[in-house]
Amino acid sequence: MDAEPRASSSVGAPARVFSGIMPTGTLHLGNYLGAIVHWVRLQQVHPSLFSVVDLHAITTPIDPSLLREKIREVAALLLACGIDPDLATVFVQSDVPAHAELCWILNCLAPVGRLERMVQFKEKAGQQRENENVGLFDYPVLQAADILLYCGQPPRPVLVPVGADQRQHLELARDLARRFDLRFGPVFAEPIAAVAETGARIMGLENPLKKMSKSGSNPGDVIALLDPPDAVRRKIKRAVTGPGREVRFDQSQPGLFNLLTIYQLLSGQSRAEIESHFAGKGYAALKSELAELIGAVLTPIQDRYHDVRSNPDYLAEVLTDGAERARRESSVVLEAAKRAVGLG
Ligand code: TYM
Repeated sequence: MDAEPRASSSVGAPARVFSGIMPTGTLHLGNYLGAIVHWVRLQQVHPSLFSVVDLHAITTPIDPSLLREKIREVAALLLACGIDPDLATVFVQSDVPAHAELCWILNCLAPVGRLERMVQFKEKAGQQRENENVGLFDYPVLQAADILLYCGQPPRPVLVPVGADQRQHLELARDLARRFDLRFGPVFAEPIAAVAETGARIMGLENPLKKMSKSGSNPGDVIALLDPPDAVRRKIKRAVTGPGREVRFDQSQPGLFNLLTIYQLLSGQSRAEIESHFAGKGYAALKSELAELIGAVLTPIQDRYHDVRSNPDYLAEVLTDGAERARRESSVVLEAAKRAVGLG
């Protein structure tokens, strides 16, 4: 894969890799290419933890029984995509109370003005005026707690592989680590965002000016990881390309550029190879080959997903074991943070 997530600063080996995913909506190709494929690779190299962040999910209105189902769906999909519980810790955020505890401590340092400027808060609060709640406002501080809990003692940076939309949240986590350490001594290290050069922002298929999103209102914009091949074909066929015929990586045609980026990431071919392969062939050929390629990647993921779901005891065991490991690893940092502020 040539989409190497690049750390925003270079330091020695990170303490751990940590990332999270919300159990809302349907996991899609953007989550896969922007985040999960990098997690699968990084788990081979560093101690890693991946969390289904259900406390973040309840900041938006979600039916309790649906949430319970989504938590399992997302955890099973992570395993199906290649997260290996023998290599990485997979856990549900609310099973590890340290996340909410550290969040409270960080709340007492987080500037309200800074949180008010968070793009994702402004977007989401705008979409759900009647449900504008404190949890939604505090969302990035909980995210900072998620990450900083795994810096170990003495602290070392946590590497956080995410899509481009999480950059601002990572900046806040860095800032909170700095503020805490300045005031109370060295408990945290600034985490490092790892954002891939290619694929960090996969766009909607019908509206390529908006990112592909779990909560988007148009299902035609999104390839879900559980979409069957005929749905993939239909959606790719309807995807916007723009005028012209030539299949080229042309930034001025965001729809075409997005389809080609997906093709590049899934095929592992270079841009030059892809352009020469499609020379003189036109958009219909690109769409039909892309739909086949996506199907070839998703089918084995879906098969593994159904295997995992057919064995609920196995999934429960993975999550119980993951929660125990996460509780153990996070307790070291939580205790250090509490001691530093004079608690406990
Ligand atoms: P979430 O659940 O929205 O998305 C999970 C991951 O997928 C990435 N992503 C994308 N990448 C490329 N193109 C897209 N269209 C696209 N859509 C989503 C996201 O950037 C993310 O990496 N706030 C986080 C969850 C979180 C978290 C954390 C992440 C909570 N605590 C601590 C890292 C560390 C979120 O909403 O992800």
